[in-house]
Amino acid sequence: MVKSLLFSLLFCSTLSFAQEVNIIPQPVEVVRKTGNFVISSQTSLVVANKEDNAAAAFLNTYLFNYYGFKLPVVNKAVKNSIKLISQKNIEGLKGEGYSFKSGKNGVEINGNSPMGTFYGMQTLIQLLPVEKSSSLAIAAVDVKDEPRFAYRGAMLDVGRHFFSVEFVKKYIDYLALHKMNYFHWHLTEDQGWRIEIKKYPKLTEIGSKRNGSIIGKYPGKGSDNTPEGGFYTQEEVKDIVKYASDRFITVIPEIEMPGHSSAAIAAYPELSCFPDEKTNLPENMMSAKSKQEMANGRNKIVQETWGVHTDVFVPTENMFKFLEDVLDEVMALFPSKYIHVGGDESPKDAWKRSAFCQQMIKDKDLKDEHGLQSYFIQRIEKYINKKGRTLIGWDEILEGGLAPNAIVMSWQGEAGGIAAAKENHQVIMTPGSHVYLDHSQTKDEKEVTIGGFLPLDTVYSYEPIPKELNAQQAKYVLGAQGNVWTEYMANPAKVEYMIFPRLSALSEVLWSPKESKNWTEFQTKIETMKKRYTIWGANYFKE
Ligand code: ACM
Repeated sequence: MVKSLLFSLLFCSTLSFAQEVNIIPQPVEVVRKTGNFVISSQTSLVVANKEDNAAAAFLNTYLFNYYGFKLPVVNKAVKNSIKLISQKNIEGLKGEGYSFKSGKNGVEINGNSPMGTFYGMQTLIQLLPVEKSSSLAIAAVDVKDEPRFAYRGAMLDVGRHFFSVEFVKKYIDYLALHKMNYFHWHLTEDQGWRIEIKKYPKLTEIGSKRNGSIIGKYPGKGSDNTPEGGFYTQEEVKDIVKYASDRFITVIPEIEMPGHSSAAIAAYPELSCFPDEKTNLPENMMSAKSKQEMANGRNKIVQETWGVHTDVFVPTENMFKFLEDVLDEVMALFPSKYIHVGGDESPKDAWKRSAFCQQMIKDKDLKDEHGLQSYFIQRIEKYINKKGRTLIGWDEILEGGLAPNAIVMSWQGEAGGIAAAKENHQVIMTPGSHVYLDHSQTKDEKEVTIGGFLPLDTVYSYEPIPKELNAQQAKYVLGAQGNVWTEYMANPAKVEYMIFPRLSALSEVLWSPKESKNWTEFQTKIETMKKRYTIWGANYFKE
């Protein structure tokens, strides 16, 4: 139940007007009290336990970056302080829950775990004024809070366009500021392989660069003839995983298979069913450099146009060895329990034409090419399970039979998620209709986007538990995720334009109790949030 008691302005000190309480995502319970607390460089940050150092560091970095001062960190209770206290078993709260009390003498944040304390600290950030000042008055409130869903995610596609380590960290910060806890890192695509794999150096030497991209919207108006490229070294990956972990965010790597694999095939053509066939790309969309290279005998290039491509991995032993080697290096870098292997949009054309694949279908007594895809994913799942990890795949992994322990990411609407939950499989909801943050935010969008129409209120209205599921089946829905495909996002400013303010709406879908969501109040709160985007120096959609 939400208690939102607003007291009269009469009691407010001269230092401030009534401090606004516009917390996103909306907490379970907020009680407004009289007065406020003023944070200044004289305020101490009390950190009794080492495990709260990460929350303290985040707050101090935030205050320093956006308000120009830091708080001294002490380990004993003092007056005029913000206390961070992680303790277990706070009555009635889940592990990620926290209580928050601010009053004239200070702030006390009690987390049910360091993660809970971190989220309480995020609530403090949401109470900060949006004007830069050396004394920051925050409202006196009592908050009790915990998330609705265990999985609160956002994906970033770094395959279509590469994004710097600096921006990936910024994106992770944006998630942390919204109490989100999973960053799905889409690392491999037709247009770019972005992660260093020591055993297969050509994946990045060749696969991380393309000679051009189509101009404008697919199918394009020709090639821009501008090289695009970049990859993350293993050291950079470790740094990002640690950075996320300090923000209680798990990074889930995605290695796409069997489709969306043109970049890997460009590096190692033997991974294709037809190594001697040329990469399929309309002549008038191809860069001059690639045309030249192909004229000189090269067959496979990193894709330069968007869409779905038919050149996919061939299920030979050699190819499985390749994927297992890649996954070994990936699993060594990412402690995440979940490993995403894609599985979406893998056309069966090549497998139909391939004598090897047809023989394999016969030998293994598979029904057809969909059966072969199912065999492929199940084999990879066994490998991942053997290493103690759990496989996530896009909903196409349902076709031809689901791998036994797989988690389904439902993107083609909710049908895949519903079917999987009914088969007692865990599900993450990412339907295009509600959480594809690459879709346009207005019907007359001036920027180039992939199209569609996904306004803020549609994101806000999303209910991740489909009504088709009964209470028992609903437990299989872990949560939901916003997807950011970057065909038409070539730089950070465009990503920010596409995610804000919709990411803020999504955070409330994922965190707040269903009954405390309120679109009218959210519209007020989002105006304050827009001022925070501005403080962060972030771009956002303004209409
Ligand atoms: C997807 O959007 N192809 C998962």
